[in-house]
Amino acid sequence: MRVIKIGIIGLGTVGSGVLTLLHKNSELIKQRINCEILIKSILVNNISKKRQLVHSAYQSLLTDNPDTLFNDIDILIEVMGTIDVARKHIEYALKNGIHVITANKDLIALHGGELLDLAKKHQVSLLFEASVCGGIPIIDMIRNSFQGNHIESILGILNGTTNFILTLMERENKSFSDALVIAKELGYAESDPVNDIEGYDAARKIAILAAMAFNTRIPIGDVHVEGISKITLCDITYAKELGYTIKLLGMAKEKDGFIKVQVNPVFIPLSHPLANINGVFNGVYLEGDFLGPSMVYGHGAGAFPTASSIVGDLISTINSIDSKNFTWCTCFRDLKVKDVLQTHSSFYIRMTVDDQPGVLASISSIFGSHNVSIYSVVQKKSIEGHAEIVMITHKVRESSMYDSITVLKSLHVIKKIDSVIRVEDEQS
Ligand code: NAP
Ligand code: HSE
Repeated sequence: MRVIKIGIIGLGTVGSGVLTLLHKNSELIKQRINCEILIKSILVNNISKKRQLVHSAYQSLLTDNPDTLFNDIDILIEVMGTIDVARKHIEYALKNGIHVITANKDLIALHGGELLDLAKKHQVSLLFEASVCGGIPIIDMIRNSFQGNHIESILGILNGTTNFILTLMERENKSFSDALVIAKELGYAESDPVNDIEGYDAARKIAILAAMAFNTRIPIGDVHVEGISKITLCDITYAKELGYTIKLLGMAKEKDGFIKVQVNPVFIPLSHPLANINGVFNGVYLEGDFLGPSMVYGHGAGAFPTASSIVGDLISTINSIDSKNFTWCTCFRDLKVKDVLQTHSSFYIRMTVDDQPGVLASISSIFGSHNVSIYSVVQKKSIEGHAEIVMITHKVRESSMYDSITVLKSLHVIKKIDSVIRVEDEQS
């Protein structure tokens, strides 16, 4: 039987999951692809670290020497993370005829195009399914199953940590900071959670998905990013009262020859399919011109779901080695990302104002003069002379929204603009 020799870089969360999957399901995989997968070596940072391995025999495969790793392998699995070191190893592999599989969204979002070009130059494969939404095969679906469609929009809950925090705030009335502490205790949030909570992790993932869906490279710096650290329980409560839930969404849409790509908290109607994706789960809702709407759902992280995608890529690579039927960069267009201020959105605005005659009229007049049309208004009862006003607008140019907020802030009767959050609702 044919033997395919692989090397792995990294034996942390994902690397251990890959090793366990390959160990436990080796017979099934062997029968399915009529080929034996032989792990030749595993590169780690700290060789003397104590590890719980799925079988003690794997201990002898560990090395901290890249030369040992690269000696006589057909396929490299990179599950180490970082940008520069991982890039160096991946480039070395590609240049030496070694196929590569990676889970590294940071590297792919930044340098995926160049790495795919390098893979093409050396006629080897580079796959990265696990880099977006862990176990959900969304890249394969976009690249293969949905190929006949113009993809019109992608909306994704792409980060499990933030979805867990928002779910906890909504269901258990936790504040953002209390929910973050719980997410850390449960191992969902890292000790430095900035990449997750400020939306950078989701931004890299939506940049990768948008590049695949719209066949154009997306410079990561062009993705507008806002996280969830300013979301309060008060906004979550209003959202519920108004028939919405708040989700951190990665969004990509093509319109008039431009791409809109952004990550930010969004009010979505409770009836939207993504509204029911809670806890650490991820989901991607996309629309194609022939497909219509479609949604996939599952674990966006974790050792085993992520290993499932890595091993899926491994099997695809093995199956296409002989035919060299690899997919490289699919970006044959050069579309620009539109400046977010020139795009249109609906907004939820919460403000604290003096409770006196004429205030609502002044607010409406400022919005009116900026072409901001109001869809609904709620005013709660006054406390100590101050009232809380919540408005939802129709779709407006974002620059008009922010210009009107600047003017509102200068009115002495407006005490505070508490929140401004986008609304994704066909009705508004
Ligand atoms: P991790 O638990 O921190 O593991 C990293 C591994 O890489 C460790 O085994 C470490 O070695 C090794 N390593 C670090 N620097 C190295 C170096 N210079 N040379 C050789 N080995 C080195 O990370 P992870 O959570 O498994 O994530 C790995 C990758 O998968 C990242 O790109 C991440 O974004 C991506 N990813 C993760 C998840 C997830 O659920 N965790 C999901 C999707 C994608 P030691 O063991 O010796 O320290
Ligand atoms: N930190 C990510 C999340 C998982 O919370 O979804 C790795 O991509």
